[in-house]
Amino acid sequence: MKLPKDPTKRTKRLELRTFRVSDYGVWKEYKLRTQRAKNRWDRIIKKPSDASLSAFRKFFKKLRSDERRDFTYTFGVFLRDSGELIGFIAIMEVYRSLSHSAYLGYRIDSAFWGNGYGKEAVKAALKLGFCDLKLHRLEAGIEPQNERSIALAKSLGMRFEGRKKRAVFFAENGATF
Ligand SMILES: CC(C)(COP(=O)(O)OP(=O)(O)OC[C@H]1O[C@@H](n2cnc3c(N)ncnc32)[C@H](O)[C@@H]1OP(=O)(O)O)[C@@H](O)C(=O)NCCC(=O)NCCS
Repeated sequence: MKLPKDPTKRTKRLELRTFRVSDYGVWKEYKLRTQRAKNRWDRIIKKPSDASLSAFRKFFKKLRSDERRDFTYTFGVFLRDSGELIGFIAIMEVYRSLSHSAYLGYRIDSAFWGNGYGKEAVKAALKLGFCDLKLHRLEAGIEPQNERSIALAKSLGMRFEGRKKRAVFFAENGATF
């Protein structure tokens, strides 16, 4: 299974699409927008070099390689009127064999929270996953304290299925991969 060549999804205010080489400028702006983390799921960059051109190239190379392997698809969430990048959505670790399933990850820049963008973007990503990628199941692994994310998932009809123990592997340096 492969994504269609241009799997762009447009909603009323947003555009969800894969990244292009020419996105370095908007990607850098997103990375450098200064703000304090509003909660512990709101990760911000630690040092300016995280927004360097070489960091973007590395990011881009990994995205393309993950897509080619039908493993993980990462989409930028762009504002249609300004072209600004305001978030990311990932359909991760696609498993085709038995379940045709994947995990869903999403993040909106906290400067834009509370405007319905998260809901609008995730709704479009669910369409991408189920219709374009022909998945049968999408799972959002949400920590029980992440009320915002739980509210978002519920508002789109996602169901609570249970608690998974040790669901994410954290290396000694805190990295998840
Ligand atoms: C979760 C996240 C994507 C939500 O983005 P957002 O743009 O603020 O979401 P929306 O404005 O579309 O709001 C979504 C729902 O959250 C609810 N919500 C808004 N503010 C809230 C708050 N302070 N507390 C609880 N729920 C809230 C809204 O009620 C809305 O549901 P509704 O439309 O049915 O009313 C964003 O907070 C984020 O990126 N968080 C950090 C990363 C993260 O947690 N990702 C998910 C990991 S599982």
